[in-house]
Amino acid sequence: MAQEDVFKKIVSHCKEYGFVFPSSEIYDGLGAVYDYGQLGVELKNNIKQYWWQSMTLLNENIVGIDSAIFMHPTIWKASGHVDAFNDPLIDNRDSKKRYRADVLIEDQIAKYDEKVEKEVAKGRKRFKESFDEAQFRATNGRVLEIIAKRDALHARFAEAMNASDLDGLKQIIVDEEIVCPISGTRNWTDVRQFNLMFKTEMGSTNEGASTIYLRPETAQGIFVNYLNVQKTGRMKIPFGIAQIGKAFRNEIVARQFIFRMREFEQMEMQFFVKPGTELQWFEHWKNSRMAWHQALGFGAENYRFHDHEKLAHYANAASDVEFRMPFGFKEVEGIHSRTNFDLSQHAKFCGKKIEYFDPETNESYTPYVVETSIGVDRMFLSVMCHSYEEEALENGETRTLLRLPAALAPVKLAIFPLVKKDGLPEKAREIMHDLQFHFKCAYEEKDSIGKRYRRHDAIGTPFCITIDHDTLKDNCVTIRERDTMRQERVKIEDLRGIIEEKVSITTLLKKLK
Ligand code: GAP
Repeated sequence: MAQEDVFKKIVSHCKEYGFVFPSSEIYDGLGAVYDYGQLGVELKNNIKQYWWQSMTLLNENIVGIDSAIFMHPTIWKASGHVDAFNDPLIDNRDSKKRYRADVLIEDQIAKYDEKVEKEVAKGRKRFKESFDEAQFRATNGRVLEIIAKRDALHARFAEAMNASDLDGLKQIIVDEEIVCPISGTRNWTDVRQFNLMFKTEMGSTNEGASTIYLRPETAQGIFVNYLNVQKTGRMKIPFGIAQIGKAFRNEIVARQFIFRMREFEQMEMQFFVKPGTELQWFEHWKNSRMAWHQALGFGAENYRFHDHEKLAHYANAASDVEFRMPFGFKEVEGIHSRTNFDLSQHAKFCGKKIEYFDPETNESYTPYVVETSIGVDRMFLSVMCHSYEEEALENGETRTLLRLPAALAPVKLAIFPLVKKDGLPEKAREIMHDLQFHFKCAYEEKDSIGKRYRRHDAIGTPFCITIDHDTLKDNCVTIRERDTMRQERVKIEDLRGIIEEKVSITTLLKKLK
């Protein structure tokens, strides 16, 4: 099945089973805004818990906060967002569609990459067993020609972006003969800058109201609380402050479901370090965050780092953790060495000292910051994309399942009485009442056991148990495991021990230590 079709299936699966709904759907939706349903919210909370605990339990020098979304408007002037948080936009006059100029060019670069892969696939087919891929890539004339064009385009693009050269970006679009995917024409406007922050007003009268912004990142709430936390928590450098919360960006082009949203959630951690040590910490956090991702068991080959060539206005090093989505490797998380830019800017704009006094050296300095910033929704999407599977069974049927990591699954255990009579529902409820204190359980008595299994495979429930007539005599149930479909008879008193260890976030966290 084409990857595009797989992605469409994942999107409709998310809706059909109550993971993600378009926002305001009965009013035909709202662009790039989504609601999480009854199962989505559980999965999302589990992702957040995994992140929060990995930060605040496993690192004794990291504490959390929860800052307000509304903040003093000068914060965004100081951080540079008012002046520089822009995307270059371009319109196609025929389709009236708006695009990000940089994304159009990045897509063009990706097309060159695809062409290379096609040539490699052709070579593999032609030379069969004797095919030496590395040699083919290094010597094939057609491949080298495409790579040269790609690299030239990439260099031109990086130069234009670094210099914020809007005319340069437009010229690349013209020279590369990039067409609008809707109208198919090259009738483009000039490229203009567009600020991504949403504005609103605070105050009761028009005259007295002041313009404030919906935060485009949670990080600034951490910076402006640096002194509060450092002093009240008696924190010693190096230390970190973690936060999970909503962020808002008026994205020009919102694409790929919950990948790029206008309202989304971030999990950010700012790690305050001594100046000069930031690049060591940057490496530390790159490795630590990659280990966090890989502990989920999705396969190391599905992740890669992408080091930034164009650095944000505040960074002296930056790298993305990219994950293989059905639409290619995409950024899920950013790790940024933000220097002392933010704290210095806030000190300048608020007129107060924001420093750290080092009791060991008796010196004061403005700490440097290494940030880890991951989107909850993108993480959710990567989990869904990797877990969704249509498995062909030996009997010729297909089952749709989510191979979710057990610790992230919305429901951990489904409890089925074989029939709705003979005291089996009562026994099932008794087991449920005992186990629901320890993990999320679901009770189901409708339809055949087979259909109930399928329903829970589709939502990723790792374990199901069936209570039958023998249960009343031997106090045993049949436990069935989602991925292998293996069934086993176990004692009711052993259930908690068997399941809890496998579904708990602690099991995931232990892989990190
Ligand atoms: N404080 C730094 C910062 O915000 P970023 O690279 O702009 O850095 C960090 O964003 C992460 O937030 C991204 O890696 C992505 O996972 C998530 N993110 C950013 N914009 C998003 C959007 N429009 N929709 C969903 N997630 C988004």
